[in-house]
Amino acid sequence: MTHPGHSARPLAVVLLAAGKGTRMKSQTPKVLHRVLGRTLLEWVLESTGPLGAEKTLAVVGHGAELVEASLPPGVEVAVQHEQRGSGDALAAALPALEGFEGDVLVVNGDGILFTTSTLGIVVEEHRGSGSVASSLGIEARTLADLPYGRLISTEDGQLDRVVEAVDASPDELRINLLNAGVYCFEARSLRENLPSLSADNAKGELYITELFEIARAAGQRTKVVVAGDERELLGVNNRADLAEAATVLQERIIERLMLEGVTFVMPETSLVEPDVVIEPDAVVEPGCILRGATHVSKGAVIGPQTSLIDTSVGARASVVRSHCIQAAVGDDASVGPYAYLRPGTDLRADAKVGAFVEIKKSVVGERSKVPHLSYIGDATIGTDSNIGAGTITANYRPELGRGKQPTTFGNNVRTGSDNVFVAPVTVGDGAFTAAGSIVVEDVPAGALAIARARQVNLEDYAGRVQHKQTVRATDVSPS
Ligand code: UD1
Ligand code: CA
Repeated sequence: MTHPGHSARPLAVVLLAAGKGTRMKSQTPKVLHRVLGRTLLEWVLESTGPLGAEKTLAVVGHGAELVEASLPPGVEVAVQHEQRGSGDALAAALPALEGFEGDVLVVNGDGILFTTSTLGIVVEEHRGSGSVASSLGIEARTLADLPYGRLISTEDGQLDRVVEAVDASPDELRINLLNAGVYCFEARSLRENLPSLSADNAKGELYITELFEIARAAGQRTKVVVAGDERELLGVNNRADLAEAATVLQERIIERLMLEGVTFVMPETSLVEPDVVIEPDAVVEPGCILRGATHVSKGAVIGPQTSLIDTSVGARASVVRSHCIQAAVGDDASVGPYAYLRPGTDLRADAKVGAFVEIKKSVVGERSKVPHLSYIGDATIGTDSNIGAGTITANYRPELGRGKQPTTFGNNVRTGSDNVFVAPVTVGDGAFTAAGSIVVEDVPAGALAIARARQVNLEDYAGRVQHKQTVRATDVSPS
């Protein structure tokens, strides 16, 4: 990513993440808000990671302990005790950069849309230009009230100064080169110039952007790096920005998957988190939500309207209008419509789980079926078995101690409709159970268990009821 000619110069990355994020109106520090499962800071680290910096530093302040605890190993922390502005935040990083000779790439902690390639260009052009301070400028097509600093550059591409939108004159507000919140500084110049920041602006804060004026006044070279596109510019300041950033990141993820061979029938209706893996020739029907460490294998069909959370789906399997969390669906298996697969569900190849079925911590063996209206928990179903409609495994037996009790079905089992299996209980290979049974004892292999009251038919019941009614009607008739 870095220019070969300059790659010998070490790089440090500093993320500014101490701000309160007042505009989020939240108890949670801004950089810990999540977009598609990742915190804002994790998104920024994702794009700076491949730059191969020698050192990565986050400046924390507001909610410092929480923010620090959220950081992956290898990211150092500097604390800005009082939030006095982005320039002051960078100054708080100086002690941790003591003795560092090289370039410091500074990225706003709320700038989660910058691509690694754009950040790499900033470093490269900064180094190539021999400047002490560079800033990324992004050209905006529409300016309507954009709350970004305006870059005022010189004819030879140096950055004269940055005017914050709140401090800008109407003329300055018309400048369409916006300060993206990505900077590259020579470490030495930071040590020299940071002490000169003033708080002479509308907000009374120490602005990082004043470093450019200071450098110019000292006769040092600065640079505007014009790169990236408008879709990267967004800094997340409020919840509307958060949603907008999610849309952009989502489009990137789904676009990548489509180019890798996945069909999305209505891409704009699905949510796919960044770590989800989907193999080529899988189809995602409208309205799906795929989160966490979900893996969908080739040729599988997901949806419409299915949620998969940390769930794996085998090749050619289908999952229709269902909710699955920490479940495994085997090759060619079929799930739904309207199934709920809970943690520990393991459907083997060609298994079927049908409508209005809930499964928890259970194995459904190869070619076995739970087709309708059932709850199966803490159970093991062998191969080629069929569980009747309306089956319940009664696995909670507090009188037997803590934990749930197991139900075991062998291979080639056929259970009747509307059965309750009171666990612990085992149904042997090839056994049958009668409809309406409440099975409390083990069923031997090949047996038929009938566990219900024998039917009694009362002859001519209707005639007797009618006779009684006639008598009663005569009793109450007016005399
Ligand atoms: C900032 C820039 C603006 C630019 C925009 C791009 C300044 C003065 N202005 O504005 O020119 O167009 O980003 O998105 O920097 N921070 C701290 N400590 C503080 C204050 C802020 O760590 O005391 C951090 C924040 O967490 C944030 C970053 O600095 O990540 C920028 O602060 P923010 O308040 O979001 O600045 P903007 O008004 O968005
Ligand atoms: Ca911001």
